Amino acid sequence: MSGAGPGSPGPAFFADPVVRAERIRKVFDGQDVLRGISLSVTRGELVSIIGPSGCGKSTFLRCLNFLEIPDSGSVSIADVTIARTSPRWTRADEDAAHRLRAHVGMVFQSFNLFPHRTVLDNVMLAPVRVKHVKPDIARADALALLDKVGLAAIATRYPDTLSGGQQQRAAIARALAMRPDVMLYDEPTSALDPELAEEVLSVMRALDAEGMTQIVVTHDMRFARAASDRVVFMDGGEIVEIDDPDTLYVAPKDARTRRFLRSML
Ligand SMILES: Nc1ncnc2c1ncn2[C@@H]1O[C@H](COP(=O)(O)OP(=O)(O)O)[C@@H](O)[C@H]1O
Ligand SMILES: [Mg+2]
Repeated sequence: MSGAGPGSPGPAFFADPVVRAERIRKVFDGQDVLRGISLSVTRGELVSIIGPSGCGKSTFLRCLNFLEIPDSGSVSIADVTIARTSPRWTRADEDAAHRLRAHVGMVFQSFNLFPHRTVLDNVMLAPVRVKHVKPDIARADALALLDKVGLAAIATRYPDTLSGGQQQRAAIARALAMRPDVMLYDEPTSALDPELAEEVLSVMRALDAEGMTQIVVTHDMRFARAASDRVVFMDGGEIVEIDDPDTLYVAPKDARTRRFLRSML
């Protein structure tokens, strides 16, 4: 959390959005999966997205870094803005998406580490290949990041020798190695037993304390409530409600939010 005390302005007050999505629409096979979603996230915020399965959470997250191309709407991340004004996805759009993605770290439920590379190589790879960082500098940086996520001692092991919690922490370190402005997580702990999930969540809390901007799709209602600056409730391809966690959990304004929370708690 960004540590605003009682009476001080909430995070949205500070006009420094790192992520600004406006009226994002996405249709799959004639189905309106995203019906015009707008969300701004301020530097240092941790925003959780909750909602029933199939409501469009993953699609929205993927639209933020153009792993899915929205049909309309715009996304700004850091200094890159992409507005979908024509149905065509051009070479210039793809170049812009490439620049935008450089500001984004993404973490998936299934870790997605390269299985034939050590943990250390997984973390070093993109800085060396994409940013042309010198290998010895990239290695030192990767080791520092692995230390931060509690994996320094097993840096030379291969992913399949690690627990799920360790693999996910390695995936976080790999994303951090590119120095993103925002981290996106799609159900990062859904594949993990509770104690391993906790290792991952504590890394995310530590990043929050350092001021990292994070957007987390999660089924972990306790984490969303305890760690988030704001919680977004999505249903049917829309943001139904967005509020600080205590307000959203204790006094949700919409009947759909109430029903969902009752079913989850
Ligand atoms: N690549 C795709 N092609 C067709 N339909 C998709 C695709 N991705 C997602 N959908 C559909 O979009 C809806 C929202 O999916 P998703 O964003 O994965 O929801 P959530 O993450 O909230 O469970 C679902 O009905 C899903 O079947
Ligand atoms: Mg999903």
